Amino acid sequence: MTDSAQVVTQRIEMLAQISEEEGKLTRTFGSPAMRRANELVGSWMREAGMAVRSDAIGNLIGQYPAALPDGKILLLGSHLDTVRDAGKFDGPLGVLVAIACVQHLHDAQRRLPFAIEVIGFADEEGVRFQSTYLGSRVLAGTFNSTDLKRTDAQGITLAEAIREFGGNPDGIASAKLDAGRLLGYLEVHIEQGPVLEEKKLAVGVVSAIAGQTRVRIGIKGQAGHAGTVPMRQRRDALCAAAEFVLAVESLAQNRGGLVATVGELTALPGASNVIPGEAQLTLDLRHPDDVVRKRAGAELEARGNEIAAERGVTAAWELAQEAAAVVCNRQLTLLLEHTAKRHQKEAPLLASGAGHDAAAMSAICPVAMLFVRCQNGISHHPAESATEADVRVALAVMKDFILELAKSG
Ligand code: HGY
Ligand code: MN
Ligand code: MN
Repeated sequence: MTDSAQVVTQRIEMLAQISEEEGKLTRTFGSPAMRRANELVGSWMREAGMAVRSDAIGNLIGQYPAALPDGKILLLGSHLDTVRDAGKFDGPLGVLVAIACVQHLHDAQRRLPFAIEVIGFADEEGVRFQSTYLGSRVLAGTFNSTDLKRTDAQGITLAEAIREFGGNPDGIASAKLDAGRLLGYLEVHIEQGPVLEEKKLAVGVVSAIAGQTRVRIGIKGQAGHAGTVPMRQRRDALCAAAEFVLAVESLAQNRGGLVATVGELTALPGASNVIPGEAQLTLDLRHPDDVVRKRAGAELEARGNEIAAERGVTAAWELAQEAAAVVCNRQLTLLLEHTAKRHQKEAPLLASGAGHDAAAMSAICPVAMLFVRCQNGISHHPAESATEADVRVALAVMKDFILELAKSG
């Protein structure tokens, strides 16, 4: 008899085959791969006795009714989009564990005093439009309608991508959940860090989620012939960018708890015998304390302008996205610690450096998160992995959490 953890692990593998890139896992907002993933996950939700719908932006939502008609709603889930060349677990693990918990209730023909809604969010990573939490912001009612004008690398707006996917940009404002009906949101997610592995524990409980700043920077200099322009006459945009990248690294190395990353860097026109006249780069800043993060952002913007002035280039700084740090709900977190301790000797509290949909959902309801150990803490990489045994522990904890919540009334 296949147990739930085996089913989750098998489904992780099946979902990982659905990609928009040959030979690697990439599944971005509104893509045909996203549609195929939603169809597959939707079929698993139906198998677990859920009614399935897709909302105005393309979130996939499975509804498992309450025993009482006016029962509140417990939200479970995570995201179904991925980064480029992603691992298999970041996002899908939380959705599949949630479905397995509902399957368990459905198989037992059991209804609880509250309904359960399992959500596969449409865009947490923000790869296509450089804007994280698009799906969860819609359900939380914090979606910024100006985001509909964001364009992807092909110049397609978010509104056009939503329509193309079968969503309805005009229906986004009314897609917000009814806060009065929500008990809370619980997300299971791989830790994406080394702590649980160091502690030799399968699961941990999240105390808080770091705030994040995402910036797009455009540097403009002067393109020219690589063979004829003397070095002292150059206004090389890529060299200016390179100096800025090292300034980012140096500041973060000397500021406790701050992590800073330049993940994208493009030199234009991008020919080996042409001095780059333009450089486009991204900056990702994270810290548990919003004041520290914002100050670091201001310092780096000032340093970027200094470098530009020294090098005779211009630097344009565009804030692409900002999310405040979030503290997880105390009651739900205590209950999660309590249920986790039934399945392992301790339930460590961990702060999350990674962002999660729970951060966006905290605007509309109490949130809690359970971390699952992942091998060498690797994530956003094909080597990302979690063991079936650890998934089994996470399932047991989540099932207990749900039943304890039902008992607590
Ligand atoms: O970037 C993050 O922290 C998350 O994986 N979206
Ligand atoms: Mn994630
Ligand atoms: Mn991620």
